[in-house]
Amino acid sequence: MTYLTVYTDDESPQTLLRTEDQERIAVSLKEIGVVLRHWGIVAGLPDGAGQEEILDAYREHVQRVVAEEGYTFVDVAQLHPDDSADWPERAAAARAKFLNEHTHDDDEVRFFVSGSGIFYLHLDGKVHAVFCEAGDLLSVPAKTTHWFDMGTRPDFTAIRFFHDDDGWVGDFTGDGIAGRIPDYDTIAAGRSGA
Ligand SMILES: [Fe+2]
Repeated sequence: MTYLTVYTDDESPQTLLRTEDQERIAVSLKEIGVVLRHWGIVAGLPDGAGQEEILDAYREHVQRVVAEEGYTFVDVAQLHPDDSADWPERAAAARAKFLNEHTHDDDEVRFFVSGSGIFYLHLDGKVHAVFCEAGDLLSVPAKTTHWFDMGTRPDFTAIRFFHDDDGWVGDFTGDGIAGRIPDYDTIAAGRSGA
């Protein structure tokens, strides 16, 4: 279930809102042009399912979004902790990639099949930290200033939608705000302790 925290974007960010009320979250995100939808989770997908199996399981939903929004490329991104010696390094590198504020020329659309991650949307003097979990489909419009934190122990499977399959790059703003707002680990810990 989605969990939203809203902060001010100044030097000492204050918490303006903290809620798991799905209706309230949808309204709050709609005000900043971001669409959050929920799909039923398909039961029985095995751990370790590959891209084809996952896309097959959600085919109807995926096809509807593609038809509505004109996406031309869909894939699956996943990262799960393992015992390999290079896991900590791979996890840190993956996390660092989009951890600073940036924009894209395309929408950033993600459906969480499993696991979680936080999209931080920076608009109108506020930061909306959207903690997404299995069943959440978040559509961040092109050019929206945002960042993404998968935490220090990334664990998620997500379906991604694109209008263009090459050049998925971040245009970084150089703003250090991501360092001032509570990160994934902090928000996740605060939530479970609430
Ligand atoms: Fe991004």
